[in-house]
Amino acid sequence: MIEFQAVTKRFPDGTTAVDELSLSVEEGTITVFVGPSGCGKTTSLRMVNRMVEPSSGTILVGGEDIRTPHPAVLRRGIGYVIQQAGLFPHRNLLDNIATVPLLSGWTRAKARARAGELLELVGLPAELGKRYPAQLSGGQQQRVGVARALAADPPVLLMDEPFSAVDPVVREGLQDELLRLQDELDKTVVFVTHDIDEAVRIGEKVAVFRTGGLLAQYGSPADVLRDPADDFVANFVGKDRGYRGLSFLDSTGLTLSQVPTVTIGAPVEATGSEWVLALNEQRQPRGWRSPGSAPSAALREGDLHAGGSLHGHGSSLRGALDAALSSPAGQGVVVDDTGAYLGVVSAETVLEVINRGSAG
Ligand SMILES: Nc1ncnc2c1ncn2[C@@H]1O[C@H](COP(=O)(O)OP(=O)(O)OP(=O)(O)O)[C@@H](O)[C@H]1O
Ligand SMILES: [Mg+2]
Repeated sequence: MIEFQAVTKRFPDGTTAVDELSLSVEEGTITVFVGPSGCGKTTSLRMVNRMVEPSSGTILVGGEDIRTPHPAVLRRGIGYVIQQAGLFPHRNLLDNIATVPLLSGWTRAKARARAGELLELVGLPAELGKRYPAQLSGGQQQRVGVARALAADPPVLLMDEPFSAVDPVVREGLQDELLRLQDELDKTVVFVTHDIDEAVRIGEKVAVFRTGGLLAQYGSPADVLRDPADDFVANFVGKDRGYRGLSFLDSTGLTLSQVPTVTIGAPVEATGSEWVLALNEQRQPRGWRSPGSAPSAALREGDLHAGGSLHGHGSSLRGALDAALSSPAGQGVVVDDTGAYLGVVSAETVLEVINRGSAG
């Protein structure tokens, strides 16, 4: 959908902001450009709508060289959202949102009506439409910025650190809102941030840039966290990337072990030094018998030690680790789709898989 072909930007003072960038942004995805300050993220983004002209290389949008259409026509198909929203202070919200439709020749009434719809789409009450930007919170202003970028229904949305000026709680709300919107609208979104957490949270693809305008790695969030291309990326994604990456790794490759099991209602012997897992008739785990439990003619649920969280086979490794860590027996219980017992897994096993760098 957006294709960078060996794109370089060198500013007149000799700074190479972007160096031979080749990357293709898939249609209908959120792709995040992430990297430290000054690594060329904004410059890369602004070359797409020709606010910055490349020194060399080619950019295609929808298969067409961006130099072919008139810049004004190109930009009508590309929404642009920046930090602090960049709203016009002397226009009310409806008129801010209606900016591009009005420029494209819509009637004022139609543009305003559309603006009202968009306000609601980004989660703001329509009554706010008459307010001015200064009368909104930072988070609300960002929502209006998103609404304005969506006004002409462009297939492409460029977002440059749109949420970095708001506090972390509001930021998370805005991220959720963007994901919800994207579900509905299916735009091709390029999102710039220097926050790796934000990048892996909202990106389907993540491009990690390094200083000097070089692309260090391009892949899914799981790829980047699990398998950093080099030390720079490894450092950038952070030391706790193993745990972060867990939620992206599925656990189908985990080797399961078995523990002794007994059935609720059946006669049981005394346990030895091992934990014994109690199942119901459907073979669903109900709890554990601790080591040294007395024999019983009929095992009752009330005699059991409550078990930790259960882990659905094949779901994320983070769930497997949670199950292992919360189990009184130190063994996370793994179940199938029907909730029936399949086996157990220890925290060590999960960590081994992470250290191997792959769930298989
Ligand atoms: N107009 C300009 N003239 C000269 N150098 C520039 C110009 N604009 C940007 N640069 C330089 O190009 C490099 C990349 O800048 P860019 O704004 O793309 O970085 P960035 O990754 O967006 O950084 P940040 O995270 O701080 O926003 C920087 O070294 C910057 O100083
Ligand atoms: Mg920038």
